[in-house]
Amino acid sequence: MSRTDNTAGTAAGAVASVVLHTVPALRDRHEPRIRPVRPADAGALQDFLSRLSARSRYLRFFRPLLELPSWLLTQLVEADGVRTQVLVAVARDAGGLRIVGLAQTAREADDCCEFALVVADDWQGRGLGRRLLDALLASARAAGVVYMRGDVLRENRAMLRLARTLGFAVSPSPLDATALRVGRALDRVPRRGALRSEPYAALSA
Ligand SMILES: CC(C)(COP(=O)(O)OP(=O)(O)OC[C@H]1O[C@@H](n2cnc3c(N)ncnc32)[C@H](O)[C@@H]1OP(=O)(O)O)[C@@H](O)C(=O)NCCC(=O)NCCS
Repeated sequence: MSRTDNTAGTAAGAVASVVLHTVPALRDRHEPRIRPVRPADAGALQDFLSRLSARSRYLRFFRPLLELPSWLLTQLVEADGVRTQVLVAVARDAGGLRIVGLAQTAREADDCCEFALVVADDWQGRGLGRRLLDALLASARAAGVVYMRGDVLRENRAMLRLARTLGFAVSPSPLDATALRVGRALDRVPRRGALRSEPYAALSA
């Protein structure tokens, strides 16, 4: 992490304004900026999770998680960008700067990774999930991953639709009868109209 990543003193729930570049306005809000997580985001991540509806928490974690256990929080904010990649979407709204999306991968084998993502309830349905997943695909591809997969609850129509839109195949999960497995190779040319994203390192700039 560079010196500028150290935003010590940032209040929990806030993200230092230095992380945001100029971004196009979206009515009364700002277009979120997607960037790799930083250690100073720990408080903001807990705040993000605590604001999620019980439904979103359940769909993301498959259980009604109320707060991130400290080991998981540490794992998230200390993502090395290779074995684990964690992207956050940061937006400005009436309450200031806050995290409104979280997407992550974890390597399972040298060339395969698992992924998951979640978008703040008041940002869902606005295209952010697609942008985050697209960014995650680009980051993982740049890190040498050739196959990405994730388990999605069968009832999660939004995530299944998003995955299908971005070229994931859907099959039964071998781990959980209530879930489906979505997976795709990363060596294919992006679908026509797919968003283009920077790899992980470039997003930090
Ligand atoms: C799933 C999730 C990440 C999608 O993010 P989002 O920002 O709402 O999605 P987008 O606005 O980018 O929409 C992406 C696609 O999903 C579809 N979609 C979004 N919400 C939907 C809904 N409620 N029902 C059906 N489809 C939906 C959209 O139609 C869009 O497809 P289209 O572009 O072909 O129309 C978000 O809803 C979320 O965080 N859910 C709770 C946590 C979760 O389910 N995580 C997934 C576990 S891996």
